[in-house]
Amino acid sequence: MSDTAAVVEAVREALSQVNDPEIRRPITELGMVDAIEADGGRLRVKILLTVAACPLRDTLQRDVREAALGVEGVDAAEVEFGVMSEEQRKGLQAKLRGPGQAEPVIPFNLPQSRTRVFAVASGKGGVGKSSITVNLAAALARKGLSVGVVDADIYGHSVPRMLGVEGAPTQVEDMIMPPQSHGMKVISIGMFTPGNTAVVWRGPMLHRALQQFLADVYWGDLDVLLLDLPPGTGDIAISVAQLLPTAELVVVTTPQQAAAEVAERAGAIVTQTHQKLAGVVENMSWMELPDGSHMEPFGSGGGKTVAEALTRDVGAEVPLLGQVPLDPRLREGGDAGVPLVLSDPDAEASRAIRAVADQLAVRKVSLAGKQLGLTPTS
Ligand SMILES: Nc1ncnc2c1ncn2[C@@H]1O[C@H](COP(=O)(O)OP(=O)(O)O)[C@@H](O)[C@H]1O
Ligand SMILES: [Mg+2]
Repeated sequence: MSDTAAVVEAVREALSQVNDPEIRRPITELGMVDAIEADGGRLRVKILLTVAACPLRDTLQRDVREAALGVEGVDAAEVEFGVMSEEQRKGLQAKLRGPGQAEPVIPFNLPQSRTRVFAVASGKGGVGKSSITVNLAAALARKGLSVGVVDADIYGHSVPRMLGVEGAPTQVEDMIMPPQSHGMKVISIGMFTPGNTAVVWRGPMLHRALQQFLADVYWGDLDVLLLDLPPGTGDIAISVAQLLPTAELVVVTTPQQAAAEVAERAGAIVTQTHQKLAGVVENMSWMELPDGSHMEPFGSGGGKTVAEALTRDVGAEVPLLGQVPLDPRLREGGDAGVPLVLSDPDAEASRAIRAVADQLAVRKVSLAGKQLGLTPTS
């Protein structure tokens, strides 16, 4: 082998360590390395992007340059970009979906899926469902798990802001690459509506939108998927049950008795859909005063009441997973796009949420080879 050929070979090897920042697989494997040419110590690499306006182009350029310059015999590296042809993009899509998977399917329903899916529900709005969802997601990601979040609250989508997601999803053929934040993949209906236009969608459209989130988004191999549901027992809750029969419900309530009663109704939906209840999270349980004492602005006992009532309803133990105190910094973190569990993991509210995450972080046993009913039987 000539020196030049050896250098090109070594560079190709080095580039197999470079991941596409969005898809997170080696660029060599994705067919993105179009050409490597060496002329003495000068190297020219041509990379094919999936779309011309790739938002992570600079990251990719830097990573490719660094990898190339790390190869012995390379003194200078020039990175050029091109765009994949339609045929190349189709090839990539087929590769990502896996063999024999030409049509979009919801990957979490495949028998070999080991992703645990949690739908976070509440009876009414304002109890902190979205705050709990994003902090739980962040707590799980912080444990090293690969986490996806779907903002299924079509009317009140707030997850992107709470997680500081600014980028829009990019598209490879008809697959959607979700933006990432704090190491999580995040998709929201808000990303598909211009500005902050109110979404007035009806049941069948909601169902279709959710189906698309789940099937067309390239999630990769997730450990956990969390869905932030709209409050109540509306169309989306039913759609989730139909589209994700293995999703387990996490019910969020405040300590207030009135809130607890509505939360219980939301939780009781699983007796009709035959889903599993993972448990109850009580939020806004108390507030610590400067003298260290606890004040309970919303009363007490709501979480326990809901857990006990649901245990009776479903005839199986539904645990109270945790009680999360009020902390103004939890709201501030939501406004700033940095969940409290990341900015201050030792705050009392963070510790409570992390303890809930510990209980949910058990990976599902693979159901490969077992029969799995895909439609609810009610
Ligand atoms: N434990 C908490 N401490 C302080 N503020 C909270 C807490 N939980 C939620 N909040 C605040 O309460 C408001 C409602 O929370 P949100 O998560 O949007 O509720 P939901 O999704 O149920 O409508 C938000 O302003 C949020 O920042
Ligand atoms: Mg919300």
